[in-house]
This record gives sequence, structure tokens and C-alpha cells, in this order.
Amino acid sequence: MNRKVIQVLVGLMMAACLSPVWAEEAVPKVDAGMKAVAATTEAVAEKADAAASKADAATTAVKEVKVDLEAAAKAYTGKCASCHGKDLKGSPTMAKMFKVDAAALNLVDEGTLAKTDEELTKITADGLNKMPAYKSKLKPEEIAAQVAYIRSLAPKAEPKAQ
Ligand code: HEC
Repeated sequence: MNRKVIQVLVGLMMAACLSPVWAEEAVPKVDAGMKAVAATTEAVAEKADAAASKADAATTAVKEVKVDLEAAAKAYTGKCASCHGKDLKGSPTMAKMFKVDAAALNLVDEGTLAKTDEELTKITADGLNKMPAYKSKLKPEEIAAQVAYIRSLAPKAEPKAQ
């Protein structure tokens, strides 16, 4: 045999040996590629689902904050009770100190309750005379919760029996 024949034979043997390996390797690669595409599609769908349910949860959360009177009561005790009294009827001591009518600090009297939610929200957010502004300390939904809390303790707005 001359060298050229041997080279060709060796070449053929190598090709024979390698080609199935390539083929076998290539198939799983294509498979894996398809799986990756499928997985990506699934992940995108899952993300969209998650975003949708997050949006749902956010809507629910805002609704819940509005009726989360327990949290509102806590915030009230910490931030408002010193002036408006634990019972919302106003602190006589603070009224004297601010030289305001005791009724000005009463949040459950007719004067306050006759105001709209928007007016009470605005006073709480922006302040009024000696009343401090709370827009930098409370989120809009927390201010809304304060108004709901005040309403919940108003004599006329007693929550109805369920
Ligand atoms: C430093 C004392 C002080 C604190 C603390 C305070 N307020 Fe007031 N608030 C006042 C005074 C004084 C007024 C009366 C303002 C006026 O009419 O001149 C007032 C008025 C109000 C009114 C309007 C009542 C009405 O009849 O028009 C609302 C509502 C109110 N406060 C809510 C709150 C809430 C909610 C908090 C807590 C987040 C709070 N306030 C904390 C002093 C205070």
C-alpha cells in the first residue's frame, strides 16, 4: 500500500468514527435548543401571569388598606391622638395650647362629619392653621384610611351589623 491509500483509509476511518459522534451530539443540541425556546416561552408566559396577579394583588391591597381600620387606628394613636384625643373628640389641653375652640380638634362632631372625604383628606394631607400637613409622612392610601377611620367612629356612620 502506498502512503496516499493509507492516508485516505485513515481519513475514512476517522470520518466514520467522528460522524456518528457529531450527529449524536448535534441532535441533543437541537433538542436542547428547542427545549430552551420552549422554556423561555413558558417563562415569559409565567412572568406575564405573575405580573397580572401582582396587579390584581395591588388593587386588592389598596381596597384592603381602605378598610384596614386596625392599621389606621394604630397610625391614629401614634400620629393624631396627641391633639385629637384617643376618642377623636379632641384634647382639651391641646385646644388650650393652640388657643382654638375644642370643637376644632373634635373629629367626630357634626362640623367635621359634614365635610366631604375630599375636604378631610385635603386637611390631613396639606394641614390647616395649627394642623400639621401629613402628605410627607403618610401615603395617600394611609390618609384615605385615616378618613375612613374617622368615618367609622362617627356616630352616624356606625358600621351596619353584618
Ligand atoms: C399638633 C396637633 C395635631 C396633630 C398631631 C394632628 N392634628 Fe388634625 N388638627 C389640628 C388642629 C389644630 C386642627 C384644626 C385646624 C383649624 O380648623 O384651624 C385640626 C384639624 C383636623 C381636621 C379637620 C377637622 C375639621 O372639622 O375640619 C382633620 C380631618 C384632622 N385634623 C385630621 C388629623 C389626622 C388624621 C391626624 C393624624 C394623622 C391629625 N389631624 C393630627 C391639630 C393636629
